[in-house]
Amino acid sequence: MESVAKQRSAKGLIVRLLLLGVCIVLLRFAYVVARRGGSCFSGDFCFFSPASEVLSLPGGVSHSEAAYVRIQDGLSLSGETRQLWTSREYRKAVEFYSAVFQDLVGEGFLSPCSKSLCIDSASGHEVIALKEIGITDVVGISRKKLQPLVLAGDIFHQPFANNTFDFVFAGGIDRTRQPANLAGEIARVLKPEGFLVILSTFAGDLYSLNSLEILFPSLKIIRSREIEVHDSPKLLREIVFQKANSIKIRYPIEDKPSIGGNLINKCPIPEHKLQLLRSAEPLIEEEPQKPWITLKKNIKNIKYLPSMTDISFKQRYIYIDVGARSYGSSIGSWFKKQYPKQNRTFEVYAVEADKAFHEEYASKKGVTLLPFAAWVRNESLSFVVNHDSEQKDDEKGHGMGRIRPAAALSDDLSSRDVHVIQGLDFAEWLKRTVTEKDFLVMKMDVEGTEFDLMPRLFETGAICLIDELFLECHYNRWQRCCPGKRSPKYQKTYGQCIDLFSSLRQRGVLVHQWW
Ligand SMILES: *[C@@H]1O[C@H](CO)[C@@H](O)[C@H](O)[C@H]1NC(C)=O
Ligand SMILES: *[C@@H]1O[C@H](CO)[C@@H](O)[C@H](O)[C@H]1NC(C)=O
Ligand SMILES: *[C@@H]1O[C@H](CO)[C@@H](O)[C@H](O)[C@H]1NC(C)=O
Repeated sequence: MESVAKQRSAKGLIVRLLLLGVCIVLLRFAYVVARRGGSCFSGDFCFFSPASEVLSLPGGVSHSEAAYVRIQDGLSLSGETRQLWTSREYRKAVEFYSAVFQDLVGEGFLSPCSKSLCIDSASGHEVIALKEIGITDVVGISRKKLQPLVLAGDIFHQPFANNTFDFVFAGGIDRTRQPANLAGEIARVLKPEGFLVILSTFAGDLYSLNSLEILFPSLKIIRSREIEVHDSPKLLREIVFQKANSIKIRYPIEDKPSIGGNLINKCPIPEHKLQLLRSAEPLIEEEPQKPWITLKKNIKNIKYLPSMTDISFKQRYIYIDVGARSYGSSIGSWFKKQYPKQNRTFEVYAVEADKAFHEEYASKKGVTLLPFAAWVRNESLSFVVNHDSEQKDDEKGHGMGRIRPAAALSDDLSSRDVHVIQGLDFAEWLKRTVTEKDFLVMKMDVEGTEFDLMPRLFETGAICLIDELFLECHYNRWQRCCPGKRSPKYQKTYGQCIDLFSSLRQRGVLVHQWW
């Protein structure tokens, strides 16, 4: 009869299922004894778990983990941890990571035999998620040991040998204040050809992504995409890196002999900078009739770089004020107060040759004075102290005229105040002081010398180090004192200044018109 046949096959199925269950328990037991020299504790249901099965049984998962921990480490899991692991929020986070990791398995970045490390995962979500999808050799490291699957350790000095891991997951790189140090440590423990996966809320645009990539010179980005976080409008960027077999620095700053005085670009025109430039405030193309008002007002239109992108993935934060004059003239009044710093502490350099301003810098903490004139080579220079009524912010009655090599001193200057100062090969100093991992903001007000310095910065490639530039361009402008008269102090025209700004922007430098 049909119904009997059905009953029989149902019975057979139940028996087979029971047998399978016994097999699994026995297998698990044998596995545990063989691998870890322990046995299952009566309270825990030990489950030999290929990932998919466990994922469909969320209730039992934390128990299997509990058993795992107890057996492996001889630790007994506190009721609190057990409760945490089974809480809804915790499970949701684990399931989010499981989904992320399963995709990575599908794409071949992760496999059951990948020796894996989760960095700064105090909560352990990532470690548990990896275990649940069947990756057995997993360790987490975090400053704080909050749960038993994660080692307590210094993430910047990890207790692992070089080239240890096939897979590193760094979900918490956003949280560190020293991403460059962490990047160095990750690159060290990762095996050649191993994969690093980062989840970040910051690397949303090319600029920030590029900053992150530069922190890992021995790794290359092989995939980057946005992923959604369940129940949240937030998007995360997932970036997959692979460590190269041999270490190559990808962004060499070339040192070729210079060709003429044109702005020759030694760094490739970077798309991440061009993207920012498209949002920059427009240049004032038309020569202003009252430049002392127009240019000063323009500061309100400036689109600062840190207001357009995230600057978290940088090694150091540096501000260089070239032609700094007194502390209050731009460092104190503008940079300290107005420049958006995303809560970072900047190292400040003041480049100022005029001795009259030197004394006050001695008492300024965090400011390094370079008592030189920024120049194209190291040599003695002469400059004329102006007594023009046109001088601005001349708190001490000083204003620096255009500098020139001391040898070029001519008789017509002898009647005025001529000073000899030391010129500094600024581009060379910059390349020794700043790296491409750093965030560099520069203000430059050098009384016409910008037309010498800019070509030199391009020739040497030092220009590539500048993230944001505030440049005062000196030209024969209309004078406040005497309507209809142009300043005789500078030969360049406003048009030449606009050419300089435009060519800087075309070459990827985020430059603003300073007043
Ligand atoms: C480990 O790597 C670091 C940097 O990558 C290197 O300085 C160090 O010498 C290496 N140590 C060994 C034992 O190879
Ligand atoms: C900025 O830093 C201070 C002190 O380190 C901190 O209290 C504050 O929350 C930070 N603000 C932001 C927006 O990160
Ligand atoms: C130029 O002068 C600076 C500052 O004194 C010094 O550090 C640097 O080594 C000099 N460079 C050369 C090429 O002499």
